[in-house]
Amino acid sequence: MKDVNNQEGLNSIWTDSLTRNLRPNGNALIDHLRTVHQKHTGFTEECAISCRDEVGRNSYEWLAELVPNNSSVRVLDLACGSGPLLKMLFDRNKNLNLKGVDMCPEELALAKTRLINSGTNFFVSKAQNLSAISDNSIDIVLCHWALTLMDPIAPVLDEVRRVLTSEGRFAALVDGQMNTAPGYKEVHDLIYSYVQEEIPSYGKIDLGDPRIRGSESLSNLMHKAFPKSNITIESNVVSMEGPVNQVAEIAAGFFYAAFVLRPDKRKLMITSLSNLLAISKDSTDGERQGRFSMPISRLLVMPDIK
Ligand SMILES: C[S@@+](CC[C@H](N)C(=O)[O-])C[C@H]1O[C@@H](n2cnc3c(N)ncnc32)[C@H](O)[C@@H]1O
Repeated sequence: MKDVNNQEGLNSIWTDSLTRNLRPNGNALIDHLRTVHQKHTGFTEECAISCRDEVGRNSYEWLAELVPNNSSVRVLDLACGSGPLLKMLFDRNKNLNLKGVDMCPEELALAKTRLINSGTNFFVSKAQNLSAISDNSIDIVLCHWALTLMDPIAPVLDEVRRVLTSEGRFAALVDGQMNTAPGYKEVHDLIYSYVQEEIPSYGKIDLGDPRIRGSESLSNLMHKAFPKSNITIESNVVSMEGPVNQVAEIAAGFFYAAFVLRPDKRKLMITSLSNLLAISKDSTDGERQGRFSMPISRLLVMPDIK
């Protein structure tokens, strides 16, 4: 696990705008995401891999189930980050034709290392402009935990529609409804309360387009972007258990907000979070066990073939 407590807090054009009570624009969002991912490359997968649903699947595995296991299916992982999903797909079927896009070069460098000699093509690009990918050339576009961050979202969906074949599918793993995972809202509120002590308006404006976070608004958005398709949104909950300090570090590591905290403040937050997540009362912290649960949703857009 990365020792984020040894690093400075994080400043970006986004945090600077919020501190000055200004509304951050699209460039501020890009700058913030790049700053976080440059400093904490690969952070998403630690939490996402550790959390499993009641039948033992993590969120990458749940999303990967939607990829047909036939030979030479053409897959694009949109905002692939450090490449855990692509690696999982490659290990499962070496004949898949894999492509990954991300706007953060540091994340892509990690993905390239882990997928060396796999034949995967990587592109540093924003999801709003996929000019490196030809029209009608992809059978399934996947997007794991990144759609929520994209603003503007309309050009992203236009690009997804353009690169997909007429029978192609779009599948995304996004945040679920907060109240569907026990204790998740309390974790969210605790982390945000620490961040808001430093930047009072943090959280009033979401990273990305808020419509992706609600199932009704997500469904409306997708019906508009893909009018001839069937849209389904399924809910699930993934959890992890372990020594409580470790669970608290991994859970906090999943919240972009937590990276904004200075090291001293972050330590205090982790202590409070450990108390919140504890499920046993053993005397030493090393032995105390903790549990963290997270709501997730799986979106599938597929052509309406009658
Ligand atoms: C939370 S991480 C998820 C990474 C990876 N999909 C995973 O689940 O491990 C979000 C990723 O989205 C990328 N990203 C965010 N907005 C993007 C955009 N507009 N275009 C391309 N990549 C974007 C970030 O660079 C980052 O790698």
